[in-house]
Amino acid sequence: MGFLADNLTRVKPSPTIAISTRAAEMKAAGRDVIGLAAGEPDFDTPTNIRDAAKAAIDAGKTRYTAPDGIAELKAAISRKFKRDNGLVYGVDQISVATGGKQVLFNALMATLNAGDEVVIPAPYWVSYPDMVLLAGGVPVIATASLENRYKLTSETLEAAITPKTKWLIFNSPSNPTGAGYSHAELRGLTEVLLRHPQVRVLSDDMYEHLAYPPFRFCTPAEVEPRLYDRTLTVNGVSKAYAMTGWRIGYAGGPADLIGAMRKVQSQTTSNPCSVSQWAAVEALDGPQDYIATSRPVFERRRDLVVAMLNAAEGITCPKPEGAFYVYPSVSGCIGRSTTSGKVLKTDEDFAVSLLEEKGVAVVFGAAFGLSPNFRVSYAASDEVLKEACERIRAFCASLC
Ligand SMILES: Cc1ncc(COP(=O)(O)O)c(C=O)c1O
Repeated sequence: MGFLADNLTRVKPSPTIAISTRAAEMKAAGRDVIGLAAGEPDFDTPTNIRDAAKAAIDAGKTRYTAPDGIAELKAAISRKFKRDNGLVYGVDQISVATGGKQVLFNALMATLNAGDEVVIPAPYWVSYPDMVLLAGGVPVIATASLENRYKLTSETLEAAITPKTKWLIFNSPSNPTGAGYSHAELRGLTEVLLRHPQVRVLSDDMYEHLAYPPFRFCTPAEVEPRLYDRTLTVNGVSKAYAMTGWRIGYAGGPADLIGAMRKVQSQTTSNPCSVSQWAAVEALDGPQDYIATSRPVFERRRDLVVAMLNAAEGITCPKPEGAFYVYPSVSGCIGRSTTSGKVLKTDEDFAVSLLEEKGVAVVFGAAFGLSPNFRVSYAASDEVLKEACERIRAFCASLC
């Protein structure tokens, strides 16, 4: 009998963290490294939110709270869902956790039995399949292609669903591709879901506010009200308000599911940080200027990076609708050799050689379930992005 749990041995450590760690080691050794691997805004948390946290500390809001969130935050979340998504969730339908990551994990832990299947469109956020495995479920990967701009088609979804399917994890705009589903595209998927009543939707709306016109964000329960009772709408403050370190995520959904998630949380981490919860109240209820000012900055960076990457030999980079990622294909570089004679057989070879030779850290596509690609996080200044893209161009040009 092995000491470590079988579930854990099937789970891989986060590849995004592995690349960031290697880049940090190279930096510490004095190398000039540009990191485009991390998935977080490069801005500070807005002042009004930081002030609310300081005030909460001074007011002694530093004790345990209800396991899945203070009443004031649940009320603010309820208002947010109504205001931004037209969704009505009562406070008994809202759960707050230590990041969207814990919300998703709670939901899977609360619902999956051994053998239950979860449909995950690829390219996917690295954590989805491993969370499903940890919770004892079976990830079923439904692959979207570059030709469809990395969006799942109704046919592929239909083919992935079986009587054992419990969830579809839906993520728009997406990490890692930035792809955002239009109302009509999402409607195509909800039509399929209506035909399969055993399937629930875990909608990960983390990048809702990073949506670039003319694209308009929409979420499944809003697009198809008949799915309201079958949907857990997940969101958080990390990406929308530059609050990744505060660790607050939340969800709206059926009260029985929310209750089951509360049970999981009460026996694991208890409540999310009390001070962060008060900061999140201010984020959701306070002025929304940060969203309005950061969005065009990210949009400009997207345009810059897409144009520069498409100018590199062997790279094809679609222009995504949202988030702060692009997911270029490197199929034109595979099979070619670096100046040091290494043949690039996979996108991992591409990313490793790019890091070693040009000091640019990106995450290879295999980590996200679709190759040969890499993910660039463009949450960095224009100067840094220009320099990084120029190095990528030079790297591609040097291949023979
Ligand atoms: C698609 C997606 N969902 C959820 C999360 C989790 O965010 P957090 O736990 O910071 O709320 C992330 C973070 O990178 C993400 O990219």
